[in-house]
Amino acid sequence: MIPTSPSHSLQLLISRQEIQKRVSVLAREISLDYENRPLTLLGVMTGSLFFLTDLMRHLAIPHQVGVIQASSYQGHSTEPGELRTNLDYLPDLQNRSILLVDDILDTGQTLACLQSELSNLTRQEISHAVLLWKKSRTETGIEPDYLGFEIDDHFVVGYGLDYADDYRHLPDIHTLSFFPNRTSRRGGTD
Ligand code: IMP
Ligand code: MG
Repeated sequence: MIPTSPSHSLQLLISRQEIQKRVSVLAREISLDYENRPLTLLGVMTGSLFFLTDLMRHLAIPHQVGVIQASSYQGHSTEPGELRTNLDYLPDLQNRSILLVDDILDTGQTLACLQSELSNLTRQEISHAVLLWKKSRTETGIEPDYLGFEIDDHFVVGYGLDYADDYRHLPDIHTLSFFPNRTSRRGGTD
């Protein structure tokens, strides 16, 4: 059930059925591309939680998995701030082909920074899989190697994506709109 709020409302953007269909197609592509390579998925927490586990369920090849913590939305905001990362709990990446898995490519700051931090740890090529791409906002020249859906410049929640740490649990993806003349766009995500 979708909770209600006095400051904003949610509208369905992508249904759980559309997400599952698209994720299984992506998993098929990745399974073919990495058939003879030792694949490690690195999920960018916390937003990629659902996408990562659904991809894992659909992959037809053996793979390893690790997580990275990255957060650019501090406190209550829908605009990114300073990026904080934690790569302390990575599995051994020696001779592994790396696929970074994230919920959404927005400005591209997160993936560009993680790519550069990871390239200090491994010489292996690093590819990206993202569920959503706000292409019009991306400034870093990063393009996803595997993409679920390109979307317009909306703030979105559900399927792992949050606003003020809420709504991650929703199985569908929704746009979040603020009511006019109410308190500012306050919320906060990572
Ligand atoms: P980027 O560094 O600007 O590309 O932002 C990437 C990160 O910001 C994503 O991994 C998300 O965690 C978060 N983010 C960007 N846009 C949204 C959104 O619309 N809803 C929720 N989180 C978002
Ligand atoms: Mg994220």
